[in-house]
Amino acid sequence: MAVRKIVEGVYEIGVQHWDRRLFDELIPLPEGTSYNSYIVFGEEKTAIIDSVDPEKTHILLENLKELNVKKVDYIVSNHAEQDHSGSIPKLLDLFPNAKVVTNQKAKGFLMDLLHIEEDKFMVIKEGDKIELGGKTLTFYMTPWVHWPETMSTYLVEDGILFTCDFFGAHLATSNLFSSDDEVVYEAAKRYYAEIMMPFRVAIRRNLKKVREINPKMIAPSHGPVYKNPDFIISAYENWTSDDVKNEVVIAYVSMHGSTEMMVEKLYNSLVNLGMEVKYYNLIKADVGQYAMSLVEAATLVGASPTVLGGIHPQAAFVVSLTGALRPKLRYIGIMGSYGWGGRMVDQAKELLKGLNAEFLEPFLIKGMPKEEDLKKIDEYAKLIYEKHKELGLV
Ligand code: FEO
Repeated sequence: MAVRKIVEGVYEIGVQHWDRRLFDELIPLPEGTSYNSYIVFGEEKTAIIDSVDPEKTHILLENLKELNVKKVDYIVSNHAEQDHSGSIPKLLDLFPNAKVVTNQKAKGFLMDLLHIEEDKFMVIKEGDKIELGGKTLTFYMTPWVHWPETMSTYLVEDGILFTCDFFGAHLATSNLFSSDDEVVYEAAKRYYAEIMMPFRVAIRRNLKKVREINPKMIAPSHGPVYKNPDFIISAYENWTSDDVKNEVVIAYVSMHGSTEMMVEKLYNSLVNLGMEVKYYNLIKADVGQYAMSLVEAATLVGASPTVLGGIHPQAAFVVSLTGALRPKLRYIGIMGSYGWGGRMVDQAKELLKGLNAEFLEPFLIKGMPKEEDLKKIDEYAKLIYEKHKELGLV
């Protein structure tokens, strides 16, 4: 893997993980990912900012060799999760005099997760500075992007803000700098949807802080470096705002076609009303794509048959994920077909109870929908249209 120069004395020395296809054993990675690690050479001292996933430590070490690094004084850990911290123990073996620079909370996590000894740490807080000689690092606490200990490191002279997961994108790319805005935007939005969305309100506070810092570059630890920080800061401001779009997400499971008939009818009725609809068969869907569609949508309609007395297990998984991701939906509809009863609606509502959305009246049909049932779905679509109109979206 390549060492890539950002500016004089500052290099990216991490890893592009092109063929990784799953993160946290949950999140699909269609474009792979990267673990960016940075090295800053001052006139007297050298600092590494974040490391890489332990599976790829050997590449980080090769990159250090390529730069002929003989001494490291500081290893800054912006975030304790192992895809960024996992190589720190190996770095400490190699550079035993280096101090792990982080905040008090992250120190505790790193001791728990990696068994790093207490005397290896240098604990910093908001606004503290470390002089490397012509290069100054200062630290900003940016909690809940997406763990409580997350922070950012600012290289004052070059105006580079190292943000770790914050503003990241699961994207393996040979481009050091963000160049194809559309590709990067999609990857960053997917990343936001899957990891950051539950912490929308805390992120808004951190965005204000980043605006005040006004960096020349943002260097996250996944995906490319942003030479135009406004591109990604503005995207985050939109995603985290309370504004929603005139979009309906339909997500369904159907066993014998009855539930599918219902959602197909709903899809057609909504499209005929001029509404934008995203449509997911949850047996085949990429859950990351589904999560992305929830970032700005006003309404979600989930549909499931009743099976084994309740919600279909695949639908339950996605509904549970939706509850955990806490999208800013305004309305939720529940639809489905049943044979003789069950607790499908109650179970779905329970899984979604943390959301600040209004539940529309559930729409259930016994068996296969009849002509009059399908006509009622037209009315259901009109109800959603009217709700969006009340929000000023149509
Ligand atoms: Fe990329 Fe939260 O780790």
